[in-house]
Amino acid sequence: MSRALPVSLAILACMETASMAEPIALPKPALKGKVSIEAAIAARRSVRSFRKKELSRAQLGQLLWAAQGVTARREGLGLRAAPSAGALYPLEVYAATKAGLFRYLPEPHALEPLASQDPRAALSEAALGQEAVRRAPAALVVCAVYSRMTGKYRDRGPRYAQLEAGHAAQNVLLQAAALGLGGVSVGAMDDAAVQKALALPKDHEPLYIIPVGYPD
Ligand SMILES: Cc1cc2nc3c(=O)[nH]c(=O)nc-3n(C[C@H](O)[C@H](O)[C@H](O)COP(=O)(O)O)c2cc1C
Repeated sequence: MSRALPVSLAILACMETASMAEPIALPKPALKGKVSIEAAIAARRSVRSFRKKELSRAQLGQLLWAAQGVTARREGLGLRAAPSAGALYPLEVYAATKAGLFRYLPEPHALEPLASQDPRAALSEAALGQEAVRRAPAALVVCAVYSRMTGKYRDRGPRYAQLEAGHAAQNVLLQAAALGLGGVSVGAMDDAAVQKALALPKDHEPLYIIPVGYPD
């Protein structure tokens, strides 16, 4: 007799069997929640210890949408949840989970599967052994591609990209708080080791790792 898988396991199984090339659609993000922005700001605290419970695809999608989701359109260009100098969008967000490594695609609101092996242990090592990165059900990695900014902003480009990463990270943390989840913005890492652990393109510079999950 076949038994139904719990939703989170079914999602993981689905992610594991998905072709490495085919994007995985995420559920439409919710535009209304039960928690006010003020309550989310008041509730946000850095969380470094997580329950074993997995995140659903909808929860992961909601967190990624808060980071970089498309929230409006101007002359055909998708404007994102976090402000961006010149709307040049230098950020790339990755999600490291038990099911592997994924890149967030803001335009179709989907996950691009990149690897089916769990990268969290290697990522945690690259983050100077921080346990939160290893133990969270998802660790979002916010990277910047500086060349997208330096054409227009020259030597201020990297600064603008780094400021933008702060906006995106705060959105994730507030969205997590509003969903009853928690996370921490991790800045302590060996950049080259993060790039190696995730096999990132050389110009995707890691700025923040945000482990997220159910607070323990
Ligand atoms: C730029 C930056 C880097 C941070 N890096 C780390 C880190 O590597 N590991 C960590 O556990 N917390 C890190 N934090 C989180 C701070 O430790 C935390 O925000 C601070 O202790 C205040 O606590 P709160 O977030 O609960 O208000 C970082 C915060 C910022 C803004």
